[in-house]
Amino acid sequence: MLSRRKFIQSIVAVALLPTKIFAQGFLSYNKFKVPRLELGRRQGKTVTFDLSIQSGVSQFFARFKTPTLGINQNFLGVTLRANKGDTVYINIKNNINQTSTLHWHGMKLPAKADGGPHQPIKPNGIWQTQFKIIQDAATLWYHSHQIHKTGEQVYQGLAGLFLIDDENSKKLNLPSDYGKDDFPVIIQDRKFNQNGTFAYLQSMPDRIMGQKGDVVLVNGVHKPVLKTQKSLIRLRLLNGSNARVYHLSFNDNRVFSIIASDGGLLEQPIKSNQLVLAPAERVEILVEVFQGETPILQHKSPDKPRQMMMSRMMGAGKDYFNIMQIVGQSKEKIAIPKQLVKHKTFSQINQKRRFSLQMKMGPQMMSGGKNAFSINGKTMDMNRIDEVIKAGSTEVWEITNTSMMAHPFHIHNVQFKIISRRGVIKGHELGFKDVVLVHPNETVAVIMQFPQFSDKNTPYMYHCHILEHEDRGMMGQFVVV
Ligand code: C2O
Ligand code: CU
Ligand code: CU
Repeated sequence: MLSRRKFIQSIVAVALLPTKIFAQGFLSYNKFKVPRLELGRRQGKTVTFDLSIQSGVSQFFARFKTPTLGINQNFLGVTLRANKGDTVYINIKNNINQTSTLHWHGMKLPAKADGGPHQPIKPNGIWQTQFKIIQDAATLWYHSHQIHKTGEQVYQGLAGLFLIDDENSKKLNLPSDYGKDDFPVIIQDRKFNQNGTFAYLQSMPDRIMGQKGDVVLVNGVHKPVLKTQKSLIRLRLLNGSNARVYHLSFNDNRVFSIIASDGGLLEQPIKSNQLVLAPAERVEILVEVFQGETPILQHKSPDKPRQMMMSRMMGAGKDYFNIMQIVGQSKEKIAIPKQLVKHKTFSQINQKRRFSLQMKMGPQMMSGGKNAFSINGKTMDMNRIDEVIKAGSTEVWEITNTSMMAHPFHIHNVQFKIISRRGVIKGHELGFKDVVLVHPNETVAVIMQFPQFSDKNTPYMYHCHILEHEDRGMMGQFVVV
């Protein structure tokens, strides 16, 4: 039922945004959708996945259809799942009419297998790759990394999850029944044109701030309702958005347990009632939802009114969304393990490096040119190696943001620990990470050990994970030798 206030609000919203055509409330027929699980063809510890990058048509809203991209399905990718110790063989066929790639985000692997800009797959081409999974249980993901096109291709749907299990994670008494009490939650905001196509980079703010949208989808569904048979569920949250940072909480402020970050399990569950999820970050949480409870996961920007005015003037639109609703159906009380895993510590530091994230203001920015974003004063060049790193070495990287907006900084091939930043390090930032949000005028230091893969000819990337920044220069290359 619509209250009078809500009704007036919705009329005002419609008047302000003539394209606002989306239902405001939760509709019980918007069922939570679980991406199909793909376990591959297994022979002992060898698993083979056959993937197809394909195009299709998706129906996100009743009134129109949207052309989309996906992996083995119309929109987004199937969820891949394998074990630590497995050797995975992946055959990827590119069935779309543009060059693309698939990058295994968060995976420790040889540079040739990384799926970055140096492993493009032409239309009708096939890329066969293989690597051994050497890291602990984690929620990783995969997505297009095509040079200058990553933002557009991920926006169209080229992204999916890659789950790793290990002996310890299987022994722990955590919800782990995929689609039953263990749910992927891929959060993405999108903007639509009147004809149903995705609206991509149609304004100056989209180019500067990154592409944001005015609706939020979860696994490709707007405001889904998840009815759960189990009272304790695990949500594997992925911010699969191009640019938006989410400030997540439940509408009733309920406390949940954070159990994992980008790189896998935390040492112990951490209780919290909110968390910040920057683009490309993953966090796993356990939520108790009992019969009769119907909590709503929401995003509420903490911005002060003045900042909100600013970003509205920049065309950023509203910064408050209901994301999904959970409907509890069980009364059973389920216990949560107290101890999850023991993290290795770092004893020595072999090398320190500094990175400065910069945005050029003035004409270059305004013209939306290719070189508006840089790292250490340089814009991405596929023919230039920016850093040379010794295999197996432990390094500290200090990342300084000298620009006016926050940038989620991502490093390929490693999982790092944050060792210092402006505020206290808490919540999922205590765990292993492959992305860290660096605020304006902040320096964040991270420590990591590079795996023993070496290849002087094939670089890995480090970059801002606001995909429009990455595509327009805020990316560099390193080799491990
Ligand atoms: Cu999520 Cu370089 O990528
Ligand atoms: Cu990556
Ligand atoms: Cu950025």
